[in-house]
Amino acid sequence: MARFLVTGGAGYVGSHVVLALQERGDEVVVLDDLRQGHRAAVPPGVELVVADLADRRRVDEVFAGWSFEGVLHFAALSLVGESMREPMRYLAENLSNTATLADAAVRSGCRRFVLSSTAALFGHPEKMPIDEAARIIPGSAYGESKFMAETALDWADRVHGLRSAALRYFNAAGADPKGRLGEDHTPETHLIPLAIDAALGRRDPLMVFGDDYPTPDGTCIRDYVHVTDLADAHLRVMDRLKDGPSVRYNVGNGLGHSVKQVIESVERIGGRRVPHSIGPRRPGDPAILVASNEKLRRETGWQPYHAGLDEIVRTAWAWREAHPRGYDDRAVPEGAARAA
Ligand code: UFG
Repeated sequence: MARFLVTGGAGYVGSHVVLALQERGDEVVVLDDLRQGHRAAVPPGVELVVADLADRRRVDEVFAGWSFEGVLHFAALSLVGESMREPMRYLAENLSNTATLADAAVRSGCRRFVLSSTAALFGHPEKMPIDEAARIIPGSAYGESKFMAETALDWADRVHGLRSAALRYFNAAGADPKGRLGEDHTPETHLIPLAIDAALGRRDPLMVFGDDYPTPDGTCIRDYVHVTDLADAHLRVMDRLKDGPSVRYNVGNGLGHSVKQVIESVERIGGRRVPHSIGPRRPGDPAILVASNEKLRRETGWQPYHAGLDEIVRTAWAWREAHPRGYDDRAVPEGAARAA
């Protein structure tokens, strides 16, 4: 048994990682300001510290109160569109929170750090699938902020010996197959939950952002990876850091699905039409993003257990159907500041 600190552990990917750590018998402390995260997503038995990472004193208190084998850092601003309206906020906050946390980890003697990173740092790559050697040309301030966070961790290793792994997710999707956790963002911007809610008549018809891309059906292709498989990748990578060097991995299934294919899958699984219209392209969207997961498989033994699009959609559908109002715990405690 080991103890881990998970920032943003009340959020979508973070909460699935917390559950996976708990299920294998590890102790978990979650640090989350609940601005995006949900108290109800933190399982019983897990300590929840409601705090903002910008509050250095609180962060130091957490590291003084417990000793951690490793830190998993999910709390971040993470909306691509918003990052293009407020780039300085994204760059400053995502970098400084990572640096604060890495610093606190180093000072406490914690030696392992896993960063939630993103495929958004590859911009519009020409070669598919995207491996770890692909050029980094972030297409958004969000992607750039995660690259800056990765760079900060390089320095934390070089100077202080903090071992880190950055996991560049492609499109995290789906929900805990046992229905205990799901995806609940405000605002919701992701394709699968939007398509499901449109099918359930809970929101306006879906707008497909462009059907004139150079892809077989004209809509964008993405690599949807099940959030439970993503969680498994974090555990494997954290374990590997015990004896391995700092590392970066691309995490996806290596399979691409178009927006139209996602709509068809939702219709198959839900047995209802997804009302939708075709709109203009969304600025900044690359036509195709598909991961090479070779390195992750080779070095950690990871493999996706829920790779099929229908299976991903089935788990997402089940959770959203059962939770019309999501986690339904929208109240933000007085004075709590932001994290994701
Ligand atoms: N899409 C629509 N209509 C919508 C929403 C999305 O057509 O209402 C399309 C998008 O254009 C895109 C695809 O569905 O082609 C998936 O879009 P998402 O917004 O669900 O996901 P993104 O691929 O834009 O972004 C995800 C993560 C980001 C991360 C990025 C990395 O949400 O945090 O992958 O590639 F940066």
